[in-house]
Amino acid sequence: MKNVKNYLSENKDRFLNELIELLKIPSVSADSAYSQDVLDTAETVKKRLEEAGCDIVEIHETAGYPIVYGEKIINPNLPTVLVYGHYDVQPADPINLWHSPPFEPVIKKTDKHPEGAIFARGACDDKGQMYMHVKALELMVKTDQLPCNVKFMIEGEEEVGSNNLAIYVAENREKLANDVILISDTGMIANDVPSITTGLRGLSYVEVEITGPNRDLHSGLYGGAVANPINILTKMIASLHDENNHITIPGFYDRVEELSTEERAEMAKAPFSLEKYQNALDIESVYGEKGYSTNERNSIRPTLDVNGIWGGYTGEGAKTVIASKAFAKISMRLVPNQDWKEITELFKTHFEAIAPKGVKVVVKPHHGGQGYVTPIDTVAYQAASKAYETTFGKKPIPQRSGGSIPIVSLFEKELKSKTILMGFGLDSDAIHSPNEHFGVWNYFKGIETIPYFYEYFTEMTKK
Ligand code: BES
Ligand code: MN
Ligand code: MN
Repeated sequence: MKNVKNYLSENKDRFLNELIELLKIPSVSADSAYSQDVLDTAETVKKRLEEAGCDIVEIHETAGYPIVYGEKIINPNLPTVLVYGHYDVQPADPINLWHSPPFEPVIKKTDKHPEGAIFARGACDDKGQMYMHVKALELMVKTDQLPCNVKFMIEGEEEVGSNNLAIYVAENREKLANDVILISDTGMIANDVPSITTGLRGLSYVEVEITGPNRDLHSGLYGGAVANPINILTKMIASLHDENNHITIPGFYDRVEELSTEERAEMAKAPFSLEKYQNALDIESVYGEKGYSTNERNSIRPTLDVNGIWGGYTGEGAKTVIASKAFAKISMRLVPNQDWKEITELFKTHFEAIAPKGVKVVVKPHHGGQGYVTPIDTVAYQAASKAYETTFGKKPIPQRSGGSIPIVSLFEKELKSKTILMGFGLDSDAIHSPNEHFGVWNYFKGIETIPYFYEYFTEMTKK
């Protein structure tokens, strides 16, 4: 690859401005109030892929939001890279905690990003990271050195479970045929500690509803004599972890793979400061499953967390009431081999079993997906590793992430190819949170690194 740095520096401002324009469209897939914006974002992505050099770009309608498909096939005998990303974003609320409006991008310096970071919903997850690939394609096409074929598949429903993408993939196996899938929708350890994500956790997401009496009751007249759904719900939830913070659902750990002492020792080599971690979150101590380190707890171990809980009176002042119902949303992060549907069933059976007489329980499964782990002795990983070495001057560390991209395991099943997770975000970039941002340096480093992956992967694949 030649002139990568030149092309980048000549087009820096435009690359940044194009991303800023994309971030201004509030493509919140979870909230139907934004449906026109989500559709507009798909159109914008289509236009940008055409400008970047794709020969064919199509908007594929689904039962939900469309999938943008693009390709540039230069020679069917050369390898094909399939890029996946998502143009939808998480809801921005709570809005009042943002220091600048979520869909009016601004660039500000931070401790971790002395060269500035773009603050906007979707800056890191995933518009900024997805757009690096569009610009990397432009760079390779315009400097006349695209070494292989490329396909793009950019969806608009990742943040709501990718249900329609799963159907699209199963129905379009030939169209999507590829030699490797490339995704930037994860993170890395630090700007001076590059890493490649080698694992993702699976997910089972459920909602529970506890019903006690058939109407809200006066807490004096009835208090103490009937089951209070909120008391019961919190007690049931509390019982889902034991004193060592192990999950108590029978069978939950049956398929969890235990890592060998060597693998755990290897993991422990990744640079990590507990003190900095705690300081960044303003906590005096970490908390979690006994017998595991922080890095293990958030990557190779499964978890159960309440994501939301509600019921009863939460308005101003006091209201003496026993609510008829209480609710919670619960996520379980799973590790490879755990089957999300089986775990959902185990949860349901257990949660129903532990409810005392006097309440009714409903468990509603939402969505989920399998975890993913990829070996590092593949051509694709080696090519990625070499690309990072070229642009960071250091070998990247393989690292399993705690987050989930459920569609990745489905890609492997349907398309029979491995995925390379080249994430350039930092954990501190506040994805899904107020003040999400993405380092300007990271954005350009991504655009710089991606073409080398194409080059090395093509070289190493060609026989
Ligand atoms: N890009 C994230 C996942 C991610 C982030 C993985 C950072 C690793 C590091 C993705 O957009 C996401 O938010 N996934 C959801 C699951 C989905 C089914 C809503 C998640 O992990 O909660
Ligand atoms: Mn994402
Ligand atoms: Mn996300």
